[in-house]
Amino acid sequence: MKITSIALLAISHLLSLAQAIWLDTNNVTTIQMDCALIAEGLLSYYEGSKYGGTIGEFTWPYYWWEAGGAWGSLIDYTYFFENDTYVPLIKEAMLYQVGKDNNYIPLNQSTTEGNDDQGFWGIAAMGAAERNFSNPDSDKISWLGLAQAVFNTMTARWDHADCNGGLRWQIFQWNSGYDYKNSVSNGCLFHLAARLARYTGNDSYVEWAERVWDWMYGVGLLTEGDSWFVYDGVKIDNNCSNITKFQWSYNQGFMLAGCAYLYNYTEEEKWYNYTHHLLNSARVFFRNMNGSEVMFEAACQDYNSCNDDQRSFKAYFSRFLGLTSVLVPDTQPTIYKWLVDSANGAAGSCTGGLDGHTCGLSWTNWTVGWDGYYGLGEQMSALEVMQNLMSWHRPPPYTAETGGSSQPHPASGYGTAPSNTPPLDLDAGDKAGAGILTAVIGISLVGCCVWLLL
Ligand SMILES: *[C@@H]1O[C@H](CO)[C@@H](O)[C@H](O)[C@H]1NC(C)=O
Ligand SMILES: *[C@@H]1O[C@H](CO)[C@@H](O)[C@H](O)[C@H]1NC(C)=O
Ligand SMILES: *[C@@H]1O[C@H](CO)[C@@H](O)[C@H](O)[C@H]1NC(C)=O
Ligand SMILES: *[C@@H]1O[C@H](CO)[C@@H](O)[C@H](O)[C@H]1NC(C)=O
Ligand SMILES: *[C@@H]1O[C@H](CO)[C@@H](O)[C@H](O)[C@H]1NC(C)=O
Ligand SMILES: *[C@@H]1O[C@H](CO)[C@@H](O)[C@H](O)[C@H]1NC(C)=O
Ligand SMILES: *[C@@H]1O[C@H](CO)[C@@H](O)[C@H](O)[C@H]1NC(C)=O
Ligand SMILES: *[C@@H]1O[C@H](CO)[C@@H](O)[C@H](O)[C@H]1NC(C)=O
Ligand SMILES: *[C@@H]1O[C@H](CO)[C@@H](O)[C@H](O)[C@H]1NC(C)=O
Ligand SMILES: *[C@@H]1O[C@H](CO)[C@@H](O)[C@H](O)[C@H]1NC(C)=O
Ligand SMILES: *[C@@H]1O[C@H](CO)[C@@H](O)[C@H](O)[C@H]1NC(C)=O
Repeated sequence: MKITSIALLAISHLLSLAQAIWLDTNNVTTIQMDCALIAEGLLSYYEGSKYGGTIGEFTWPYYWWEAGGAWGSLIDYTYFFENDTYVPLIKEAMLYQVGKDNNYIPLNQSTTEGNDDQGFWGIAAMGAAERNFSNPDSDKISWLGLAQAVFNTMTARWDHADCNGGLRWQIFQWNSGYDYKNSVSNGCLFHLAARLARYTGNDSYVEWAERVWDWMYGVGLLTEGDSWFVYDGVKIDNNCSNITKFQWSYNQGFMLAGCAYLYNYTEEEKWYNYTHHLLNSARVFFRNMNGSEVMFEAACQDYNSCNDDQRSFKAYFSRFLGLTSVLVPDTQPTIYKWLVDSANGAAGSCTGGLDGHTCGLSWTNWTVGWDGYYGLGEQMSALEVMQNLMSWHRPPPYTAETGGSSQPHPASGYGTAPSNTPPLDLDAGDKAGAGILTAVIGISLVGCCVWLLL
């Protein structure tokens, strides 16, 4: 979505003179004012408030999973700035998409939904519980119950048959990618289990987090030594021996913050050590700009090849860094510098579009400001990197003991068989369509990336 029209650029540059944002990372008022503008831009992609749009979904070409990412960002927005303006809108969206079994597998998505897609909505619900976000009415399932439902249905899909464990990327057999076990699906489960453990105090979730970690480590999706990297995934052929070694910032973030939650809850040294190892290796996602360390999506940004999905990864990575910094407090100095420098870079990129404060993809080119890219991912990433500067001004994520009011439903989500069996009687045409859709995603993922090696 690169704007190339010279005329449009000229107009937006004129407007930007009047309306560009200005950030002082020490001044909460400027952070709040900037984030309000950026959040407004984010919601311009929301479909639910447009004629004929579906509640909870964002406009084409943004997939359903990314909406789950965006609601997670906005839940934190309401919490960080103690601002209720968007609460009814977010709540309506989060509850409209729960699906008939309250587990975030709504019928409309069931032909294409993968474990990671479901995981993103589950993590948004977990965030709602931890931020004490306005509770659903008592006839509806709670935020915590939704997160538990996602956990329960994901663990039920744990696949012993191939490679001795792990989650496949896809939920449904007819989707391409069903033969792939990836870090984001397993990372979502690990991360969600860690957060459920800390929130509920139930050690069963710790056992699951350990199971996922050990499997990912055993198969080689996590590397150790000088570099603790998280690789993209692995095909099940040959007992999962051929790792696809792309590195994405959000995968590093899922594992990093998951370890931070586990350490905060269990106080076991190994999780402390893993947190620091993953944090040190997260340096590959920062570019040194005259002493400033600015976040970038290393596997695609330099090649101008980031797709719509990948352009939002810095959002979740920023969120997970913010959480890590409060849960393992001695990570704060490193993360503080990364977020401050990156927020400054992001603010510098938010000079585009007709509103004059549309955010760009690259935060590292300080001579151009806005780089011509725009979209839900760009907007969400800028919002998250800036709003996470508030992590240290607001209470840490709540638990059931410290102020969270969301009620547990430990057995939720099992309305239908939590297996790989299709819930719909699809005809051949529907199956083929879904297969092609994911195949195209698969090809663009592989086609546009390079290995990231130190
Ligand atoms: C923070 O920024 C606001 C808005 O620009 C300004 O009015 C205020 O004086 C600043 N506060 C401090 C302490 O600099
Ligand atoms: C609350 O959020 C809305 C929407 O982002 C924004 O317009 C408003 O200025 C915010 N109010 C305060 C006090 O931050
Ligand atoms: C499912 O799709 C239909 C048709 O587009 C729409 O009316 C409905 O609101 C959607 N439901 C959900 C939960 O997205
Ligand atoms: C703890 O979590 C496990 C796994 O979801 C669940 O089966 C069990 O019922 C939970 N225990 C309590 C006391 O909630
Ligand atoms: C297959 O891989 C799994 C996971 O790494 C491992 O536990 C198992 O021993 C391997 N099996 C064989 C036959 O190599
Ligand atoms: C490993 O995967 C790559 C990329 O998917 C493929 O090109 C290569 O042939 C595979 N190698 C083996 C030994 O299967
Ligand atoms: C954690 O790291 C410290 C320092 O490197 C080391 O001494 C300790 O054995 C490690 N603990 C575990 C459980 O790996
Ligand atoms: C870094 O500093 C050099 C020398 O002062 C300057 O020429 C260059 O433009 C600076 N680069 C950035 C990105 O600020
Ligand atoms: C857990 O997080 C809280 C909140 O930030 C912090 O005060 C506490 O020190 C952390 N616990 C450990 C063991 O680091
Ligand atoms: C910054 O953008 C300008 C204009 O597009 C380009 O010429 C320059 O190479 C870019 N610099 C970096 C470091 O990417
Ligand atoms: C959480 O929300 C409940 C219900 O709205 C409220 O009673 C409680 O005071 C809130 N807790 C905190 C810590 O704000």
